[in-house]
Amino acid sequence: MTPPDISSFPTLGILGGGQLGKMMAADAVRMSVDVRLLSPKDAGPMQAYSGSRTGDWTDPDVLRNFAADCDVVTVESEWAPAEEAAEAVPGNTEVRPSPSTLAVIKDKGVQKRRLADAGCPVPDFKNCETLEEAVDAATSLGFPVVLKQYRGAYDGYGNATVHSAEELREAWPDLAADDGLMVETFADFTRELAVQVARRPGGEQVVYPVAYTEQRNHRCHAVEVPADVSEDVAREARSIAQQAVDVVEGVGLVAVELFEMPDGRVLINELAPRPHNTGHYSIEGSHTSQFENHLRGVLDWPLGNPSLRRPAAVMVNVLGTREGTPPDASGLSDALAVDGAHVHVYGKPDVRPGRKMGHVTALGSTRDNARERAERAAEAIHL
Ligand SMILES: Nc1ncnc2c1ncn2[C@@H]1O[C@H](COP(=O)(O)OP(=O)(O)OP(=O)(O)O)[C@@H](O)[C@H]1O
Ligand SMILES: [Mg+2]
Repeated sequence: MTPPDISSFPTLGILGGGQLGKMMAADAVRMSVDVRLLSPKDAGPMQAYSGSRTGDWTDPDVLRNFAADCDVVTVESEWAPAEEAAEAVPGNTEVRPSPSTLAVIKDKGVQKRRLADAGCPVPDFKNCETLEEAVDAATSLGFPVVLKQYRGAYDGYGNATVHSAEELREAWPDLAADDGLMVETFADFTRELAVQVARRPGGEQVVYPVAYTEQRNHRCHAVEVPADVSEDVAREARSIAQQAVDVVEGVGLVAVELFEMPDGRVLINELAPRPHNTGHYSIEGSHTSQFENHLRGVLDWPLGNPSLRRPAAVMVNVLGTREGTPPDASGLSDALAVDGAHVHVYGKPDVRPGRKMGHVTALGSTRDNARERAERAAEAIHL
């Protein structure tokens, strides 16, 4: 493909001011893309950039003002007001990914329906408006089932696994919105996997290696790349991920969360239309990071090589272990003493138990070797 003529350095607006926006902005700055961030609240991570501001991002005037000289506006989260931004921005400013892609992804029911209708493998599910419908659906799918809120959930907070009609009836009132809940078959998976795909507006894609994501207490603890899966599973995971990203017409980076099933099938759990925790390893681990390829995708620039620089990369999250402020830097020197440990601290002003405060990546000749060093450095940090 002929590279487009990049005739000037663009201005990129990022809706969001958390760690994902911060890491996107870092790559933008490196390539002299003029970057600005807008967040509804004073998010700590974005303070690293002078082009960051806070404001009511549902207010068309605020959005218009923010986007006035942006060539492209992107989002760090599916919850950012892309639709409102698209209405407010000048006609020559692109919002990418498009509000229609975000609308499909941010509602788990709509997303699963779209993927299933396009033939992507997903766990059996039913979108249920009423409790009785949900009890019928769960009975025919077979317990246990996972109840999922359609919108606004993260880190598993909007989900509940129920084992009987009684448990379902108990869980429903607290979880269900006016339009109900999704009822999904409990997938008794072997492993959770993730694949990042970067896509340009015209459909050109690059796909990252398959990552294994290890969850502890419903949160991502570590990510190992490449995942220790068979070649067939790896091929299937990457191909399903690429198909899913085409189905939703993703632009920029899309992360695809997958379940590897005991019979070798691979099912899609959900998509995230942005760089994702499971792709943080790529900052040091890949020739082109997920953040850079997100920028390249939304700017319609040539995509970069997503392959690993070394045989293995492992990322370990640094989660808050206490309630407090400000973060405590005392463990940093021990973490930095670990050979080849790449330490990231997001700059969130206050710590909460389980909150993602930073991460560590290590590369190595084997997964075990990288894992040992990433774990050792992450353990040393007690923000
Ligand atoms: N159908 C299922 N069967 C078994 N486990 C599931 C199922 N759906 C989700 N889970 C488990 O719950 C976790 C969180 O689910 P999901 O991805 O729907 O939630 P989320 O709130 O969007 O979470 P996150 O922000 O961590 O992506 C999954 O990573 C997986 O471990
Ligand atoms: Mg998820």
